[in-house]
Amino acid sequence: MRILAIESSCDECSAALVDYTKDGALPVRSVATFSQIEIHAPYGGVVPEIASRNHLETILPMIEQAFTQAGYSSTTDNPKAPREWANAIDAIAVTNRPGLVGALHVGVSAAKALAYAWKKPLVPVHHLEGHIASLYLGDQARGLPLPMLVAIVSGGHTNLYVIRSEPELWPPDVLKRSIVARSRDDAAGEAFDKTAKLMGFPYPGGVWIDRKAKGGNPQAFQFPRALPQKSILEFSFSGLKTAVSMEIARLKNSGEFEARIPDLCASTQAAILDALLGKVALAIQSYGCRSLAIVGGVAANSELRLRLEQSWRKWGLSQPPITPPMEYCTDNAAMIGAAGAFRVVQGAALSPTAMLTLSAIASPDL
Ligand code: KG4
Ligand code: ZN
Repeated sequence: MRILAIESSCDECSAALVDYTKDGALPVRSVATFSQIEIHAPYGGVVPEIASRNHLETILPMIEQAFTQAGYSSTTDNPKAPREWANAIDAIAVTNRPGLVGALHVGVSAAKALAYAWKKPLVPVHHLEGHIASLYLGDQARGLPLPMLVAIVSGGHTNLYVIRSEPELWPPDVLKRSIVARSRDDAAGEAFDKTAKLMGFPYPGGVWIDRKAKGGNPQAFQFPRALPQKSILEFSFSGLKTAVSMEIARLKNSGEFEARIPDLCASTQAAILDALLGKVALAIQSYGCRSLAIVGGVAANSELRLRLEQSWRKWGLSQPPITPPMEYCTDNAAMIGAAGAFRVVQGAALSPTAMLTLSAIASPDL
């Protein structure tokens, strides 16, 4: 089965062709992604209206690029190329929730139009389920002992899930039922981004903190680790930015700010990672998890990867934690294709009438 997948929930406009083979592998035939990071950078964060307008401009070029990268004709070479594309696929998968509603609408409308014109089944995909499914784009997750704890650590979410069955058997509401922890306020990636902004780094700031922390002392400043209680399996990162901003003001007053940036970054990163990994360890113990996976943009953090490598044995796991292939950590349509394939196998593709009323939904739980 070959799936055309579309993702437009935030600031990445992406289309991909993903196959689902008889033995359950998911080879990615192509991924075309336009990242809007540079467009939003001057504003210090994603501007929803600018995001939707940009998706409108890039969605069709990304879909065409996904086909041409996979070896199909372009519309410049062959005006009938879309007919060839239609014949090449079996279904269309699209992120319809959660995200910026205007941005989601662009992908959903494109997917509905193509599914209608090409008479293909359409399958809606929950963006976070896409992040979980990204683990299955390589073969690292196949055959891992279950239950598996999956941490989604991105700019928008810090959620822990327990996965109890192979993905083809995920219940339709897998995300609602298996969530075991989330953040009460800011997400971990948001904590990286907001503290980086206070230090004067461009958006998204996580990678800057990661870089500048090297050579800094993680114990130089004692920033808060919220909710340390063993009885609470939730995160809270909003207090951190207040503490960091007070320290920055003090350092600027004394003229030490520039010199202490590595220490500030290392201490901020340590506070975020201690809070995150403390709850990951608690969840593994509380739910008897036998494997661990980390997905989302923060999974790219080099100190996080190092600490996972040092910690998994003492958490009682029998193999190292897994992360998706690096190129599938941040938002992309290949992961939506993977989740879409599992949903098609389960029979979740929409009928031609249900398809017409499919809408974009901003909130995660509807
Ligand atoms: O998954 P993602 O691309 O988008 C969302 O769905 O939010 O995650 C983006 C987040 C941003 O907050 C970014 O600062 C963070 O991932 N990030 C990092 C690193 N690379 C990306 N955070 C810490 N260290 C990194 N190396
Ligand atoms: Zn995401």
